[in-house]
Parts: sequence; structure tokens; C-alpha cells
Amino acid sequence: MDRIITAADSSAPSLCGAYEGKLKIGAAINTWHLEKDSTAYEVIRRHFNVFTLENQSKPEPVHPEEDRWVFAPVDRFAAFGEETGVTLRGHTLVWHSQCPGWFFRDGDGDASAELLLARMKEHITAMVSRYRGRIHTWDVVNEVLRDEGGLRESAWYRISGKEYIREAFRTAHAADPDARLIINDYNLESSDAKADTMAELVREMIADGIPVHGIGLQMHLGLDTDMERLKKNVRKLASIREIAPDFKLEVTELDMSCYRWGDEAEDIQWDEEKTARFTDKYTELFRFYLELAEEGVLDTVVFWGLHDGVSWLNGFPRKHKNYPLLIGRDFELKPAFFAVAALVEQ
Ligand code: XIL
Repeated sequence: MDRIITAADSSAPSLCGAYEGKLKIGAAINTWHLEKDSTAYEVIRRHFNVFTLENQSKPEPVHPEEDRWVFAPVDRFAAFGEETGVTLRGHTLVWHSQCPGWFFRDGDGDASAELLLARMKEHITAMVSRYRGRIHTWDVVNEVLRDEGGLRESAWYRISGKEYIREAFRTAHAADPDARLIINDYNLESSDAKADTMAELVREMIADGIPVHGIGLQMHLGLDTDMERLKKNVRKLASIREIAPDFKLEVTELDMSCYRWGDEAEDIQWDEEKTARFTDKYTELFRFYLELAEEGVLDTVVFWGLHDGVSWLNGFPRKHKNYPLLIGRDFELKPAFFAVAALVEQ
């Protein structure tokens, strides 16, 4: 049997090294992966040059009560960035999920639009200015669209209308004029209606001078993702460059589940046929990313997790073992890893 090559092995190609000058390659991590002398840390340093905190910079952990802030993990993340010179992404400032309830309340009732927007601005200003120059990119708003197109009817929207989105970008830009500001969402590749709404919303904001610099494509994909539709929808969003030459797309949360949403099947057994499909799909995907990179519209691809064993997809939407990343549970490098690296190896 072939020797298994792990991500910590010095004989393996470095993924971000292979893509140097074409795309930055990243991973979502947690600060406990930053313990020096651990395999996780070695893998982080070897294969990735852009990072997102998986949970620790979201409003719920950072700002659990109106007058209580928990900055320590994000400070740790920022220090890691300063030590190593990698790119850091801030995730996320405004989201309907993992946002503490106090934002939306005033005594026993709902907060007014004015109060909610004031709290939002305070939160954004505190985060973005504290990490100014150290966190380079922010997912300013996350998942503000409905799956079937249109704006999501979240508590943010219900209370303040669509104005919170624009105000969030203006506030972040005032706190760090050099930060890249992103509007991030999922299923933009698979829902035509959602991609249409996103294209329209961002075009309008740019036309009105709102500092939105790019769209974050989460890209939580599946083995069954329709690649033609994906390319068509991503191209639709990329075409925003026509009105803003510096406009960018980023892939922010890439993974590839072997389950379908809403599919109640038993635990899937991984087999050779799945390995082949997984490898082909990742290869086609990165070929497409390289085309977009060549055109100057995509420069960053971030995986949502360091390896299969720590992927959120083992627990969401159900508890099932999942295999969504290029690095397996024992840090073994999958055939898809080598295929993706080989696309750019000389
Ligand atoms: C997920 C984390 O991975 C989980 O650990 C947490 O329990 C829930 O959130 N879209 C996003 C991410 O923007 O913040 C989500 O992260 C995954 C979906």
C-alpha cells in the first residue's frame, strides 16, 4: 500500500505555496489551533496564508451583553497575523444568527430602528477600529438575502428596513478606510434568484457610492452541485466589475458535503466512486477559480475548516460523519488535494 502523506509532511506540496501569485488559500480556524508545536499549527503555517475565525469573532461570543466585550480570542488571532504576516478576515459584524438578543430589545419590547442602528454602529466601530490594519477584510453583513431571492426578513430588517445594510458598510469604512469590505452569503452559486438579488443589491450600492468592495461566496457545496449553474451565477456576480474595476469576489467558506440538504439518509459510506467524484469536482472548481483569478476578479479562496474531523458539517444539519475538505481526519492528504495542487505545479 502507498504510504499515506499527511499535511504536516515536508514531502507534500504546500497548497498556498503552489498557488502563490495566483490565489491566496485559506482556512477557518479556532484560536486553540494556534498552539505552537501542534500538528494543527504546522498545517496552518504550511498550507494556508489567509484565515478566518470560525466562531470567535461573531457578535455573540464577542459582545454577549451591551456593556461586556470578550476581545481576548480575537486579540490572539490578530497577534498571530502580526507575527506571521498572513491575511486575516473578520467574520462577521452583522448577522441574524449568533447575534445576542439584547441588540433587538428595549426593556420588554422591541428596540426602535434608531436604537438598533446606534448599537450596530457602536459594535462595528469598536471591532473595526480595534483591529484596524490587522484584520484586513471584513464580512460586514452576512446572509442578508432570502433563499428564494429578496431580502431576508430578519430582526435587523423587520426593525430597521434595508437601511442597516448600507449603514453597516459606511460605518465599517469610516473605522478603517483601508479594510476590504465584503457582503457574504451562501447558495449564490445554486440559486439563480439569490444571485440576481445579490447582483442588483450590490450594483445599486456601488452606484450610490456605498463602500462595498466585494461579494463573499460561501460555497458550501455538495457532491451533487450543478457546476454549469455555479459558473453561470458566479459569472453574473463577477460582471459587476463592469461598473467597478476593483470589485472582487472571494470564496469564503468552501466545503463539499456528501449529503444533500434535507436528505435523511443513513451515514454515507465513503467509497472509491465518491473519491473520484469529489476529486473531479474540486479539480473543475479550482480550474474555474484560476480562470477568475487570471481575470483579476478572484484572489482568495478560504476553506471552512482545517480538516474533515473539525468541519461543522459533521454536526450540521444532522450529526453525520462528513468528508468535505481536502485534508482528512488524520491530516491525510486526499487525492483531491494533489489534483488541486497539480493544477498550478510547474
Ligand atoms: C458555523 C460554524 O462553523 C459552527 O461551528 C457554528 O456552530 C455555526 O456557524 N455560514 C457562516 C458561518 O457564515 O459563520 C457558519 O459557521 C457556517 C455557515
